[in-house]
Amino acid sequence: MCGIVGVLGSHDVTPVILGALKRLEYRGYDSAGIATVHKGALDCRRAAGKLINLQEILVREPLRGFAGIGHTRWATHGAPSVENAHPHRSGPVAVVHNGIIENFQELRDELTAAGANFTSDTDTETIVHLARSHLAEGMTPLDATHATLRRLEGAFALAFLFEGEEDLLIAARRGSPLVIGHGSDEMYVGSDAIALAPLTDKLTYLEEGDWAAITRSSVQVFDTGGKEVDRPIVKIALESAAANKSGHRHFMAKEMAEQPSIIQKVLAAYINEGSGALTLPEGVQFNEIRRVVMVACGTAFYACQVAKYWFEQIARIPVEIDIASEFRYRDPVLQHDDLLIVVSQSGETADTLAALRHVAGQVRQTLAVVNVPTSSIAREADVLVPTLAGPEIGVASTKAFTAQLISLLLLAVKAGVEREKIDAEGLKTLMSEISTVPGLISQALDREQDYAQVAQKLAQSDDVLFLGRGVMFPMALEAALKLKEISYIHAEAYAAGELKHGPIALIDNTLPVVIFAPTGALFDKTVSNMQEVMARHGQVTLLTDAAGAKLACDVQNVIVMPTAPVVIAPLIYAIAAQMLAYNTAIARGTDVDQPRNLAKSVTVE
Ligand code: G6P
Repeated sequence: MCGIVGVLGSHDVTPVILGALKRLEYRGYDSAGIATVHKGALDCRRAAGKLINLQEILVREPLRGFAGIGHTRWATHGAPSVENAHPHRSGPVAVVHNGIIENFQELRDELTAAGANFTSDTDTETIVHLARSHLAEGMTPLDATHATLRRLEGAFALAFLFEGEEDLLIAARRGSPLVIGHGSDEMYVGSDAIALAPLTDKLTYLEEGDWAAITRSSVQVFDTGGKEVDRPIVKIALESAAANKSGHRHFMAKEMAEQPSIIQKVLAAYINEGSGALTLPEGVQFNEIRRVVMVACGTAFYACQVAKYWFEQIARIPVEIDIASEFRYRDPVLQHDDLLIVVSQSGETADTLAALRHVAGQVRQTLAVVNVPTSSIAREADVLVPTLAGPEIGVASTKAFTAQLISLLLLAVKAGVEREKIDAEGLKTLMSEISTVPGLISQALDREQDYAQVAQKLAQSDDVLFLGRGVMFPMALEAALKLKEISYIHAEAYAAGELKHGPIALIDNTLPVVIFAPTGALFDKTVSNMQEVMARHGQVTLLTDAAGAKLACDVQNVIVMPTAPVVIAPLIYAIAAQMLAYNTAIARGTDVDQPRNLAKSVTVE
């Protein structure tokens, strides 16, 4: 994880680097640091905690220089302290790193034996000591970097800065993304295009194993063997991450509120207004696919879990889903007529990207449902379905999740049509139900008071149990994940029917149990499970529609959700999952947008 940036500027670069780090803070906020070269001298400022702490230090101790590198950290090796903050420096070389150096212990032992003085617990520090030792042998910065890279095992994106070199940045990429930005008389490197968005729209993406020597007037890219290679400059139109909360207390609140308009935008993009026909990106022949394999992490995995129901029920196509960090290590059986769908907000999640690469040549096609269209996953998949949610800043995913859901639902309908599993009448009904999603989400958002009331109770508890059946089971999982992420309350989710096989032992008169149960085929069965909880004095909150509330009139707390057709209900109840977590976090006073220990984009395994 971590965000890295480098700038060769035409004036002092510290403010430019700070701006880029702000845009990269979604990758981690355990510590931050900047190094520059000024009048030939290398200097560095670092601070533990969020970027604001570094900004305060820079007010007291400004850092001058037209060349610099910066870093925002998500700790892997070593606590989030100043000593472990990047840039790391040894003599004339400083480096910022995103990734993990797997052979760092071996290198550290070797370098220590040779007299290197380590001042941090990080894997990264080995890189600067190695580079310094090669410089001491008389190598040029370029040769010293190449020799250093050859010794490193693991995943990394790196930017090097050298004492005495005010017109040189060296960047390297293996396993972690890195992009070079071309400005006018300025050059940049960054972990992603978003970091560089306000600076330039002309980008060169480094490929696996590439490393580059960058000056203000030239870029030389080399492959792993040191052979110079040609990498194109592409022009990217990018929405800069919205910098303000538009009057909302948190980015998460703003992003939740945006959901009706984002869903509307997705529908407008993927459904022809006149004919009503689906206009999703082409490239997959669903009638030639025998199985869909879906892989993702976190919230995106729960989107897959919902989509499994949709693809199976609407398109009658078998679906397997897997958590990306498990997928490739169990050596999955893949077939040439499989379609792999990966789902990711950032498009940079290391395990999801690795899953995509793992299936290359083994499946018929790969399709990415991704929010960041310039990301590695978006660029590497055969077919891209952008989810169009716009930049998501809050670490807890909200609008990106519902945008994933609606995109996957439309894909399932497309698959159903192509496989001739839906007749014209069925399709008409389905599309008319789908068109009601934005309005129903607005109504679900309007129940703020109800969510806040229940949240007051959840905030008093150390544990919460969420239950649901069918598509409401993934909603229960998502609700538990959101609550854990931002309120730090332990929460678990179970398929309601599974309750009696273990978790029922947890129930007493102190345990809040939140049940997602819209009316429909599974309502009565879920209500039976709810009765089992109530018989043991569990503190039940039922989320259902008006008809459900009437039928379950003996429940202590009910949130009456908008009445929604079964197929789109997950999109509506997702709002409740988000709002309950958000209001509980507010009641607990936690850091909603940047919860402890988390990062928005997880670029390490
Ligand atoms: C992190 C984020 C989650 C996200 C997951 C997958 O854990 O905190 O919100 O769901 O990564 O990220 P992706 O970008 O692949 O959707």
